Amino acid sequence: MTPMRPGPFVAGNWKMHLKLSEAGELAGKIAAAVPEVSEATIVLIPPFTALNAVAGAIAGSDVGLGAQDLFWDDQGAFTGEVSGPMLKDAGCAYVLVGHSERRQLFGETDETVNRKARAALAAGLSPIVCVGEVLAERDAGRTLERIDGQLARGFGGFSRPEIERVIIAYEPVWAIGTGRTASPGQAEEVHAHIRKRLEDSYGNDAASCAIILYGGSVKPANSYPLFREKNIDGFLVGGASLDADSFIGIAREALRACREEK
Ligand code: 13P
Repeated sequence: MTPMRPGPFVAGNWKMHLKLSEAGELAGKIAAAVPEVSEATIVLIPPFTALNAVAGAIAGSDVGLGAQDLFWDDQGAFTGEVSGPMLKDAGCAYVLVGHSERRQLFGETDETVNRKARAALAAGLSPIVCVGEVLAERDAGRTLERIDGQLARGFGGFSRPEIERVIIAYEPVWAIGTGRTASPGQAEEVHAHIRKRLEDSYGNDAASCAIILYGGSVKPANSYPLFREKNIDGFLVGGASLDADSFIGIAREALRACREEK
């Protein structure tokens, strides 16, 4: 019998949304529904201001907590920044690094991604490192080249034990917030490529255990066919994570695909 795949990893990136009471309410609803999807790993990534409220609402549940960004120094005169040890102290186990909105709007580069991912690991956090091409790169047939550059610079100098704690999220920029999802085939091509690159650099075991998420207009209606693809291990969800039913619906549909033999 084929062993069942590990359950899906489904993270909700709330971006710059929700005040404290709204965040606590949504997290509470999600925590209450999580036993229905207990084979999935569910992670909430609220804005910094709501970390404490969400930590309280999910206390005692299996829901994980993450932050949307961090700075690479532990402390100091860096007005406006938040460090890895501070996030760990706030109850986070995960942190996004290099989301395309940070890259496009706030000048993040593969080099800052590298420093931030290292800082996350040093603080005992799992970085969820985002990669993805813009539409012009896809149209020019340069998607895989772009991903290769992001991986090579973003993870330059990482050891195998370090890479084993990294989660990679493939988020094609043209699919984020547009309602235009990558087709399962388009996403799988990039996911398989990322896994192959991990295998080339870190060996088969590290590559086969790596968690590679897809993000970009994920909804309950498209999570089933996406998760059926061999190299898609879960989702990084934006808009649909702001509604408990649709967010849990994504996990439920992924689990349905997970239970079917590949
Ligand atoms: P949407 O799901 O709203 O397209 O956002 C994806 C994303 O950027 C998650 O990090």
